[in-house]
Formats: sequence, C-alpha cells, structure tokens
Amino acid sequence: MAERPDTPIETLDEAAARAELVELAERIRAADLAYHRDDAPEISDADYDRLKRRNRAIEARFPHLRLADSPSDTVGAAPAEGFAKVVHARRMLSLGNAFSEDDVREFVAGIRKFLGLNESDALAFTAEPKIDGLSLSLRYEGGELKTAATRGDGSVGENVTANARTIDEIPVRIDGAPEILEVRGEVYMSHADFGALNDRQVESGGKTFANPRNAAAGSLRQLDAAITAARPLRFFAYAWGETSEPLAETQLAALDRLKGFGFAVNDRTSLCRSAGAMLEQYREIEQNRAELGYDIDGVVYKVDDLGLQARLGFRSTTPRWAIAHKFPAELAWTRLEAIDIQVGRTGALSPVARLKPVTVGGVVVSNATLHNEDYIAGRDSSGAQIRGGRDIREGDWVQVYRAGDVIPKVADVDLARRPETATPYVFPEICPRCGSDAIREPGDSVRRCTGGLICPAQAVERLKHFVSRAAFDIEGLGAKQVERFYFLGWIREPADIFSLESRDREGAKRLRPAEDLLASARREGEEGETAREAFADILGLDSFDHEAAIRQLDDLGRHPLAGQLGWGEKSAANLFAAIRDKQRIPLDRLVFSLGIRHIGEAAAKLLARAFGTWDALIEAVDAAAQDPAAYGDFLAIGGVGQVMATSLVTTLTQVEERASIDRLVAHLDIQAVAAPSGASTALTGKTVVFTGNLETMTRAEAKARAEAMGAKVAGSVSKRTDLVVAGPGAGSKAAKARDLGIETIDEDGWRALIGQA
Ligand code: IVH
Repeated sequence: MAERPDTPIETLDEAAARAELVELAERIRAADLAYHRDDAPEISDADYDRLKRRNRAIEARFPHLRLADSPSDTVGAAPAEGFAKVVHARRMLSLGNAFSEDDVREFVAGIRKFLGLNESDALAFTAEPKIDGLSLSLRYEGGELKTAATRGDGSVGENVTANARTIDEIPVRIDGAPEILEVRGEVYMSHADFGALNDRQVESGGKTFANPRNAAAGSLRQLDAAITAARPLRFFAYAWGETSEPLAETQLAALDRLKGFGFAVNDRTSLCRSAGAMLEQYREIEQNRAELGYDIDGVVYKVDDLGLQARLGFRSTTPRWAIAHKFPAELAWTRLEAIDIQVGRTGALSPVARLKPVTVGGVVVSNATLHNEDYIAGRDSSGAQIRGGRDIREGDWVQVYRAGDVIPKVADVDLARRPETATPYVFPEICPRCGSDAIREPGDSVRRCTGGLICPAQAVERLKHFVSRAAFDIEGLGAKQVERFYFLGWIREPADIFSLESRDREGAKRLRPAEDLLASARREGEEGETAREAFADILGLDSFDHEAAIRQLDDLGRHPLAGQLGWGEKSAANLFAAIRDKQRIPLDRLVFSLGIRHIGEAAAKLLARAFGTWDALIEAVDAAAQDPAAYGDFLAIGGVGQVMATSLVTTLTQVEERASIDRLVAHLDIQAVAAPSGASTALTGKTVVFTGNLETMTRAEAKARAEAMGAKVAGSVSKRTDLVVAGPGAGSKAAKARDLGIETIDEDGWRALIGQA
C-alpha cells in the first residue's frame, strides 16, 4: 500500500482519528503476526515504532476513541528503542538486601570493620522508607532541568525528559543549586491516585494496572508525554549523582538541601545511632506502612556521614554504605472461614474468601478473591491443573497474598491442615440473591445469574453503574444513596430516579396533615390530648405512642426525602435539581449507562457517533434482531466487533429490559451526537456501503474519508442505505442496491464526490 503523508495530529478531526486508529491497529497487528508468529518481519523496526507512536499520539489527543483492543495495550511499556539513550554521568546503582535482623547487624558490623572503627566510635545511619516505584535521575545544569533518565542498565538509561517535565513534584528550575546537579529519586503513584486511574481506565475501556508500581512505570515510559501528563505521578528525592560541588556533609543535611530546592523528600527519614535503633525504626515504618498512602517494600539504611560514604565506596553494582532491609513477602496463612458469592452488574457470580483476619504486608485482610469456580477447584480455564490440582474448601488453611494495592488473593492451600469435615466446595448453580438459574456459557470462565433486573444484586449494581461518573453522574446520588434508595423501595430501576421528585411531592402532600397532627400531639395540654386521640384514630392505633406513630408514618409509603433521611429540605431540593439537570443527556452517556455487557465508554461513543440518535440506534438493533445481515451496520463501525454487537442486540431486544429502558427514555431529552465533521458535506448523515475492489485507495482510507465527511459506513445494503460505491468484482450487494433503487456509483464517481477526481 502506498504511504500517504501523516496528517498532523493537531489537525485530525475525530472521524479521521477514529478511522486511522482502526487502520493502525490492523497494521500493527499484521506486523506483530509477521514478526512474532511468522518470523518474517514485513516492516522495519523504525517503521513499526512509528506506527505505535502515532497510535499513541492519536489516542492521547482523542482518549475516548481508543479502541477496546488498542495496540498500545499489547506491550506493557513502550519499546525501549523508542527512547533516546542517556549515558549516566555516574552509574545508577542498586542496593544490597537484608532480609533479617541478623543481616542488618552484620551490615553494621561489616562497615565498622571496613572503616576500622572501635566500639566507642560513633556511627550513624539514616533509615528511610524504600519507595516501590521506579528510579529516575534528573540532571540540572545552571538550575535548569536538562535531562531526566530512567535507570536502564545502570550505565545507560532512557531519556524521559519530556515526560518528567509533566510531573508536578519535579521542578523544572531550581534556585541556589550547584551548577551541575543530578537529583535521583523514585517516581511513584499514590494508592488513591492508582485506584482512580484504574477506575478511569475501566471506564474508558483501557488497560488496568496490576499495582501502583506498574502504573507509575507504564505512565512514565510513554513515548507521548501527553499521556504521562494525564497520569498522577509523584516523586521523592533520596540521592544524587554528579554534583559540581558537594551538597552537604551528611546524608540528612543533603536531603534538607534537596528539600530546599523544592523536592519532596520522605519525612519518615530518621537518624539511627545503632543497629538496635535501625531495627526499631524498621518496625515503626513497617507498622505504619498501610497509612502511608503509597507502596513501600522495605527500609533503606545509609551511612549518614558523606565522608565515610566516600571511603566505603562501591562493590560492582551496590554501594557499601547502604542496604535495603526488605519487608517479608506479603504472604500470610489463615483460616478460610467461608466462601461467599457476590453477584455483579452483569450477573457474574464471584467467589469471595471470608478469612480469619490476618495481617498481610502491614494490612489487615479479611476478604480475598477466589476468581471463579475453576480456580477453587484447582484448574485453569483450559482445564489444566493449578496448585497441583489442590482444591480450596471452607475451613481450609490458606495462603493469602497482597500484590501492591490490588485485591488480596488466595494463593495456596495447606492440605495437611485440612479439617476432616471439609467437603469440596459446590459452586452454586442458582443465584444466591434471587434464585434464578446461574449458567456458564461455553468458553466463559464465569457463571452468571440469568435473573436480569429481577435480581436485586444485579439491579443495585446496575443502578450504581447508571449513576457513576462516566454515566449519568448525578450529583448527590452516588453508589451509597442508590443502594439505600433501592432497599427503601424508592428506586428499583433507572426510570424511578426521574420520578423521585413527583413521588416525593405526592408523599409530602399525603403526609402533611398527619405530620401536623403529630406535632400537635406532642404539645402539652388539651389541644395535644385531642390531637393524640385524633392521630391514633387516623392511624388505627389503640392508643397514641410516639415511636409507633413515626413507624406508621414511614409505612404509609412516604418518602419525602427530607423527613426520611434526616436531610434538610435543601439537600432534597439540590438532589432533585441535579436529577432534572441530567434529563438532558448525550446519547453516548445514555448507551454507556445501560451497563450492557461489553459496551464500555469507548464502544458507547462509537455507537452514538455512528447512529447519531437513539431512534436510529434502536432501529438498527431491531433490524439486526430480525435479520442477521443487518448486523453489518454495527460491524462496519471501526472498533465494534461481533461480541459487542451481539451483546447490544440481545440485551436491547429482551422484552423486560426493553420495557425498562423505554420507561427511562420517556423521561429523557437525549442529545443527538452531531455528524463528526461539523460542516455539512454531500455525505453528511448519509449511510454509505462500499463493495467490490477500490483501486486507488484502501477500503480503510475510503471509509475514513466517508466518515470524515459525516457519513456512516455500513457493511450491508438495506433500505436505509443512501449510497453504494461499487468497484470491480462487486456482487450481491450491488445487485441488492439495484433492486432497492439505491444510488450506486463507481470509484471515479466516488473520487469526484470526495473532491479527488
Ligand atoms: S538509595 C546508590 N533510597 O530501590 C543507591 N533507593 O533496590 C541509591 N529505592 O534502585 C539508591 N527507595 O530505585 C535509595 N529511599 C531510597 C529508595 C531507593 C527506593 C529504590 C531505588 C533503587 C532500588 C534498589
């Protein structure tokens, strides 16, 4: 295929970007197969890198267009070849490890011996948390950040300067520093930021990270700094490389100077004057580990006196003056008290281990995931044995591990400690929440409840999804409130959210007289006496009882929010206003909010853009349910595959589901999504089908051009088709177009239409 020059990213419009992402994904996938599977590379490494770089750059500018199976996700980090190399002026070294208290005592004794110190000679060490991130060297010349480099092999690292400049905690200018100063430290991500990033990744259909360290590494090693800029990275300075003049006389004072230049240094750093004090500090840091808000994997001890450090020098890859005292692996054994089944939004039954609480890596763990029924049974999804085929049973003694901030997992089981009474776990085949059948489709490792909306677990999870940030995002109506409102019976399905206010007003109207009476009943005197009688009478109570009266009021089906929840009138009014505000909703948000399996935020956007309006989308869904050929309308959308299309069509044509969605839609003012190109063209709003061969451009390019001009490109001809472009070899589609009387043009006509004749 002839190369066309790349359109500058800044001038790409959405349609062109979307088309190019699809094309790039195809080309990268083909190149991967040729290289890895066929051992027969079809393009040079440089060209391959260029494709990946362009893909990332387009994704960074249009994150919502990122494909669910983006090639950016196929390799964890960008290929190292993509970064320029930096030769470190001073090697970036690693640290020796200590795993026990004895190791630490030996380290101290060894240093004393090396330096020839007497028992009575003072020797101080700093003790500071060992941050679990990735190390970075920042070179400042004349106070300006010149280069930022990863460690690489210690001698040569990768130049990530543009990326480092986007990190708030890395100053680009520092005052009062030596002419040359290399500051070294750790790039990391806090637990909170890591959680939020993964949530965003889930919402946007992107890849999630296993732990904060991976997230930090993946975010820093991006060929496009725009991606790094969008990631919440932080930096602790703890060391230095080349300096044109000494920073200080001690480690602690040097850290103070770094702090003075504007760097974050760890405030848990302390000075210890003996091995005993070092170990005490270790225990203190380990105990507080969970409260730090970021991952650490040990404590680093460094000789404080920089003169002594210089004397001690280095072994081949580690300094003699420092050591990392590692925390024990984050593993623990405990009793598996029970296996509970949680039911998610799509009905997935997830087994959760309820554990006798145990500390794993400084965090008390009482729940852990057991993945799925195969995992419990001791096999993987292909039926092969895991854990030597040992199954997991309630009552078992199990090994739990915590990797970073992710959900703890049950890793192993001790058969020697299995109670005699323990029986193999029988995974439920009916939903524990609603009693519907829970079935496992062939090829699916997950068993799912078939109860749909009648299942309270699914209903609540779906409501939570419905109000989530990327969906309706109703201020004041978060996961907690939705759950509460569901169990109060006020909101059972999304449509109920939008009638909450009118029902609240009705309820208030009904209750006001009774509440007035209740108020008078509470007053002393004759008036109160009469009111009490009247009140008891109305509510059918034998005699007036304040508590019972309140209960009765609640049972009257009232839900004036302010009264029921202890909310002020104002909070209720705010909530209603926030709900009203979201009655006008963009089509893509609506589609995403429905929580249809496989339809994430990105797919919802693709669908919304392709169909423009809710009616057009539903019409296509119904058509596909009638005639499988009409699936072509979905499959023609770049980024929408068979699995997504089938899920969409089956969900939206289920009778109760559809009725519930119709009830919702009746409350909404759905904003149509404008044709991508903005300005109207000859193709705006038209549905185009390409058939046969095109000789002067690829199908992908033709499609991109059509979409850039506001057309929707479909895969099959139907009465909704506006134009067919038929090249040589066109067959049944061209014939069908003729039968239906649809305008058909050849490639020359097409080129004329797009202004390339
Ligand atoms: S000092 C010459 N201090 O741990 C030694 N390293 O396992 C310079 N690390 O490569 C390193 N926290 O990436 C030092 N407070 C700390 C650290 C720390 C984390 C990392 C660093 C180093 C690795 C060695």
